[in-house]
Amino acid sequence: MSEIAWDDSLSVGVDLIDEQHKLLIEKLKDLSDDFKQGHEQNKILRTLGFMIDYTDFHFTAEEKVMAENDYPGLEDQQQQHAEFKATLDSILLDLREDGPTEELVKSINIFLLNWLVTHIKGSDQKLGAYLNEQGQAR
Ligand SMILES: [Fe+2]
Repeated sequence: MSEIAWDDSLSVGVDLIDEQHKLLIEKLKDLSDDFKQGHEQNKILRTLGFMIDYTDFHFTAEEKVMAENDYPGLEDQQQQHAEFKATLDSILLDLREDGPTEELVKSINIFLLNWLVTHIKGSDQKLGAYLNEQGQAR
């Protein structure tokens, strides 16, 4: 099972976004812990539900900051966010239908973790650099 913890290499240089990413990673850890402890399906579904809600909240906040600052990468980010949300929805469906099978649990962990780290270190750090250049960070 993959372990995840926030560290400085994930900072985008904007406090508000960093704080939200920290919380998102906390939620991912909760989900990973649920799986590890073999929690019942309902508990896992609830945790995943929290994660989906928080992800929605975070993406909306990020996109608002981008729009307010005329960020040229807004559309690209919107597309990435929409794809991620669609994947989360299909994970939720699979989990509801088949329960937390080992295969599903593994792919959830690897997929969510990889996506988040890649997205933060790529797209969001680019956004952070832009906001800092504009003097809009923090
Ligand atoms: Fe983000």
